[in-house]
Amino acid sequence: MSKEEFIPTRDWYVPPRNAKTPLETPLDPADVAVPTRRYTDPDYLQNEFDLLWTRTWQLACRESQVSNPGDYLVYDIGKRSYLIVRGTDGQVRAFYNSCRHRGTRLCNGRGNTGKSMKCPYHMWSYGLDGSLQAVTDRETFCPIEDADYGLSEVAVGTCAGFIFLHPDRTPAESLTEFLGDVPALLEPYRFEEAVTTLDVTMPCSANWKVLVEAFVEMYHVQTVHPHLLATLDDVNTYFENLGRHSWMIVPTAVTSERLGGTVSEIDRLEGVISIMADGVGVRSRENRSAGEETAAALRQMFTNEAGELELPEGSSVRDVFVEMAQNALKEKGFDLSGLSAAQFLDDHQFHVFPNVIMNCYAGLNMFLRFRPHATDPGQCLIDLMLIELIKDPDEIKSRTAVHQEYAEGEISLGEVIDQDTDFLPEVQAGLAGGDLENVTLSKQEIRIVNFHKALDGYIPDRNA
Ligand code: FES
Ligand SMILES: [Fe+2]
Repeated sequence: MSKEEFIPTRDWYVPPRNAKTPLETPLDPADVAVPTRRYTDPDYLQNEFDLLWTRTWQLACRESQVSNPGDYLVYDIGKRSYLIVRGTDGQVRAFYNSCRHRGTRLCNGRGNTGKSMKCPYHMWSYGLDGSLQAVTDRETFCPIEDADYGLSEVAVGTCAGFIFLHPDRTPAESLTEFLGDVPALLEPYRFEEAVTTLDVTMPCSANWKVLVEAFVEMYHVQTVHPHLLATLDDVNTYFENLGRHSWMIVPTAVTSERLGGTVSEIDRLEGVISIMADGVGVRSRENRSAGEETAAALRQMFTNEAGELELPEGSSVRDVFVEMAQNALKEKGFDLSGLSAAQFLDDHQFHVFPNVIMNCYAGLNMFLRFRPHATDPGQCLIDLMLIELIKDPDEIKSRTAVHQEYAEGEISLGEVIDQDTDFLPEVQAGLAGGDLENVTLSKQEIRIVNFHKALDGYIPDRNA
């Protein structure tokens, strides 16, 4: 495919900043080979725990998950466990989730611990600021200096309503330095005002990086998600690396040129309706038809007197869906004036290093986090969260999600996510079961190239 074929006139869209389509992006041949052992070798997994996860900022939870004094949430990554707690002073702190007596985990899951945290083993008690408050049968110990026995604290920081932690108490790199341009790009979405409407954890039989990588390229859309080609432009998706992070902008309600101009505007409308109706959510595997009502309502809006789908005169599918999203959010009273029209429709998708994917649409956003298994490089945990801008207090109450855990494949999360999670174990199986020394990356996988260059900075195994 020539560059001219690959990059048509983009009169309908102005790319922001320095974003480039893959063929416009230079690729250094030195960067394209990634050792297969990064996905399969237990020693590499251990290196990740020792050299990456102990040395990087990482997304732990949302601020709203610990909104009141005493609210806590346990964040586990591999064998490490952290306790995130809001104090009586309103401050959020994070500690190793380990009692200073004989090490017992202090808390599990999430909840409210009241004014203190009590160890379930011998009832040592800690204040919400981590200070040691009480020692059961203190007189039976050698003298204990309370100041030496506070919970071990780690650094926390916030961005866009998310709490990040760093396993150091005083990291050399601040969260602001770590995130670079990302906070400014997220700011107009007003995530800190949004409500979590889906909060799900499910294992997947693939390395956590296999999952990250499937979400940062569009190369596999033509094979794994072919039904999307009618309504998104995988070829002219824009990519921009942002230090260790990256983002892409996926033009939506336009058709991939891989289909060769065979899709009419009305077919595109039908396609967008189906995809919007399918949405992400928890459904049974047997009955994924949760979106039929939404689809019928959307179809009704565009049905003319003859019973056929029709667009308002002079409008494209892009125009009508951008306007619909803008009006809906304006009616709810949200000021999203910092967003471009394209941000109301196109997926502006961030990879926040190491393991978070943020799919940003105005008002409705999907976040994915992939956590490594403690010992098996071929397993990971998927955390999926939807956050939505909702104003009505009753709706907030009824729609705020309770965290749910499922077994692998137990439920459907929507057609597109299912296609990925059902397929990616095949990638892992091939990586583990073949004799491939390196995977080979293309310009369409430039964000994966960037990801592994960032990993090189923590685990320099490629130059060893
Ligand atoms: S281990 Fe926590 S009080 Fe004994
Ligand atoms: Fe995918």
